[in-house]
Amino acid sequence: MSDIDSETDPDTGDAVDAEPETDADTGANRGARRWDDSILEVRNLDAGYGDLQILSDVDLDVRPGEYVTIVGPNGAGKSTLMKSVFGLTNRMDGSVTFGGSDITDTVPEEIIYEGIGYVPQNDNVFANLSVQENLEMGAYILDETPEDALETVYDRFPILRERREQKAGTMSGGQRQMLAMGRTLMLDPDLLLLDEPSAGLAPDLVDDMFDRIDRINDDGTAILMVEQNAKEALRRCDRGYVLVDGRNRYEDSGVELLADQGVRQDFLGG
Ligand SMILES: Nc1ncnc2c1ncn2[C@@H]1O[C@H](COP(=O)(O)OP(=O)(O)OP(=O)(O)O)[C@@H](O)[C@H]1O
Ligand SMILES: [Mg+2]
Repeated sequence: MSDIDSETDPDTGDAVDAEPETDADTGANRGARRWDDSILEVRNLDAGYGDLQILSDVDLDVRPGEYVTIVGPNGAGKSTLMKSVFGLTNRMDGSVTFGGSDITDTVPEEIIYEGIGYVPQNDNVFANLSVQENLEMGAYILDETPEDALETVYDRFPILRERREQKAGTMSGGQRQMLAMGRTLMLDPDLLLLDEPSAGLAPDLVDDMFDRIDRINDDGTAILMVEQNAKEALRRCDRGYVLVDGRNRYEDSGVELLADQGVRQDFLGG
């Protein structure tokens, strides 16, 4: 510790360490930065299910058009954080703001009007409906199906156009994942929440899925994504958060997190 980082104890005259930048217990760079221009701001959020608190004091930001990844161990609360942004948990304290509006107590049916789309981790298509019917469901809040949005989705995922008549339940995991994403894109959200989009995909399809997500982001949609495939996700995103035991542990650019010794050792398999 250099002198710059030390102060003098007024009682003893001994040098004491100034407030360290890293968390003394974890070595983590806790303490999320706050951005002035965020589209999504999560502040000091406590949330969970019923009385069961899962998230504690969580901070998170997404700026317009930004690509942000959340990684962390199983059960860390990553999905709970996504659900909390989309109004699907009991938010106990703290706040969620989107586009300047406080949506802390807003229900999902209203949040979609604000411009957030959510693709859950599981059970994210209507198995008994056709591909096209699933996509039309994505825009059910509109009086009629937006044909241009439908065409854009079909352009993004040509396999869906080919299989528009097929029952969603008969498609492969990868195709269902594309359909779930396509359905959410029908309302052209400003922020897309993706919970483990590569889960269950054959290894050779994982890169393809990440490429498609890159393109959606390149076209201007902000992405908040949870991924088990942490290295690849951090490589591709702008910024990342490591969540542990329902709390922020690390936050930095994807590149910095990938290079961080502690993150690599504890969360990226060395
Ligand atoms: N509906 C629910 N009711 C009660 N507890 C829940 C519910 N969903 C999740 N939990 C609990 O909340 C904690 C965090 O779960 P969550 O699904 O958010 O973790 P995760 O980080 O997404 O994990 P994974 O990597 O396995 O997807 C876990 O202890 C889990 O058992
Ligand atoms: Mg999860």
